[in-house]
Amino acid sequence: MPPAIISPSVLASDFGQLTAECKRMMAGGATYLHMDVMDGHFVDNITMGPPVLASVHKAIPNIFMDCHMMVAKPEKWVDAVADAGGSLYCFHIEATSEPLPLINSIRARNMKVGVAISPDTPSTAITDEIGNAADMLLVMTVYPGRGGQKFLERCVPKVAELRARFPDKDIEVDGGVGPSTVHACAHAGSNVIVAGTAIFNAASPEEVISGLTAAVNE
Ligand code: DX5
Ligand code: ZN
Repeated sequence: MPPAIISPSVLASDFGQLTAECKRMMAGGATYLHMDVMDGHFVDNITMGPPVLASVHKAIPNIFMDCHMMVAKPEKWVDAVADAGGSLYCFHIEATSEPLPLINSIRARNMKVGVAISPDTPSTAITDEIGNAADMLLVMTVYPGRGGQKFLERCVPKVAELRARFPDKDIEVDGGVGPSTVHACAHAGSNVIVAGTAIFNAASPEEVISGLTAAVNE
């Protein structure tokens, strides 16, 4: 399994202090920063878009922005996110009928490619061709749309199914993941751990990040 990558979800941060919060997480050992982009169409919530990503990138040029695109038209935002400094562009398979051309367009802009599945989407929605063309596969463990929800255990078998088919890919879990739920995810084969409230609400984010890392690498 590829090594552990911890990606704190800034959705749980104080947006008024966004760049400081990102720096705090990087100082605490975060490898990626998980940027939840919601458009009010694919999900019933609006968060941030390319201008905010650009401001964060301007303040922290060496940041790795893991952009989770909860948007209805993922084709539409590739250039804007690339221009804003996005490092990884993760789209939902439910939101496109043309995943392979979309993957090619993300690569053409020198971003890594992620493909996400929501709780009701089977792992088989990620075909061999799509999975092999991606860098990272994201198994949502809550319904996308907001932070602080309860972890859906029933999504974990999909991680194991994808790990069996794609032994070398990064497999990310997102939603309700923290010290008490990470072991199930890691055991099933996830190596990229998103955690929002579990990290940002902790007295010591650094301790939570090192605990999550240890759970994956053990
Ligand atoms: C949910 C987002 C998640 C969320 C995770 O739609 O994609 O990234 O912020 O937050 P927690 O870890 O609090 O469930
Ligand atoms: Zn997310």
